[in-house]
This record gives sequence, C-alpha cells and structure tokens, in this order.
Amino acid sequence: MSCANDDLKALIRTIPDFPKPGIQFRDVTTLLLDATGFAAAIDRLAESLPVKPDLVAGIEARGFVVGAALAQRLGTGLLLVRKHGKLPGETIAEEYALEYGTDRLAIHVDACAPGADILIADDLIATGGTALATVRLLRRTGARVTGAAFLVDLPDLGGADRLRAEELRVHSLMAFEGD
Ligand code: PRP
Ligand code: MG
Repeated sequence: MSCANDDLKALIRTIPDFPKPGIQFRDVTTLLLDATGFAAAIDRLAESLPVKPDLVAGIEARGFVVGAALAQRLGTGLLLVRKHGKLPGETIAEEYALEYGTDRLAIHVDACAPGADILIADDLIATGGTALATVRLLRRTGARVTGAAFLVDLPDLGGADRLRAEELRVHSLMAFEGD
C-alpha cells in the first residue's frame, strides 16, 4: 500500500527478530529523536481529526509521548491510562491479554466527565488488545470514546478493524504490512 507519509515512515527504524525471532519491531524512538519529524507527525495527526475531542487519553508508556504532544497541539487536557498499580486515587481497571498472561490498565474513577468525547492516543496499534481495553475502561465512566490516533498501524494484525467495529474513527500516519 502506498503511504502518504513516506517521509515519516522512513524515520521509523525496523529491528528484526525483536523481541523474538520472526518479529519485525517497528521502533518509533528514531522518529521521536527527529525534531522536524516528531513535530510533523503530531501536526498531521491533529489535522486528520474531524473534531477536537474534550480530552486525549494516552496509554502508558509510549502512548504518553504521542498523547501529551497531541493534547498540547489540540489544546485539550491529557488523561493518563496507566499500567495497574501506579495511580494514587480510587481507580477502575480493565484486564487485557498479552502473549503470555494478562496485564491491567487503570484510570482514576473521576478522570473524565460522563459524556466527555475522548480520543485515545498510542504510538502503534497491532492486535488492538491494549486500545480495546482502554475503550472498555473509558466507556465504564460514561465517556464517549469516538476516535483513536496512532503513529503506526500494523493492519495485518487487525487492531484498527477491531476499533472500527467499536464505532471508533481510527487515525494513523503510516502502515507496515506484508512483511
Ligand atoms: C506496545 C505499543 C502499544 C501496544 C500495541 O505497548 O506501545 O501500546 O503494544 O499492541 P496491541 O495493539 O497488540 O495491544 P507495550 O505495552 O508493549 O509497551 P510500552 O509500555 O513501551 O508502550
Ligand atoms: Mg504501549
């Protein structure tokens, strides 16, 4: 598939066989190190949104980077979706499957107002397990989760389609597929 953001795609480093043989790891750290590329990526993601959300929800850890920059660019607050056990106040949590075992994401119960329009942000979507757990978590508060923004989509793994099936608009700058 041709990609409209080939200049940004060239800034993603691919590391073969990490974390295990056969996996092509798409490393966003090299894009983040490039001042022009990082700024352009956030600008383009922001410009692809049809409406400004009430809040951006960044998913720990790499989603904090994209989410914080996007929230600043959009002029919204930032909701931290944290790995379980890190937040000091009253929380709700949602479990999701890893390749081996499970993990949990948590937010403060009062992190967002019922009816708030929330955009999820992360660096990359693969199977969608992380983003879907975040959707479930946020929706338990009564929030409306209407979109999700990623630097990188791995469409062969189906996560973006799973989010669309949940009525989310999915915004990504580049896709790596077929390899
Ligand atoms: C990575 C990536 C996404 C998630 C995508 O996070 O940053 O959050 O995996 O995979 P999925 O769509 O199959 O759920 P990870 O938890 O590995 O590491 P991080 O804490 O560095 O963000
Ligand atoms: Mg992550």
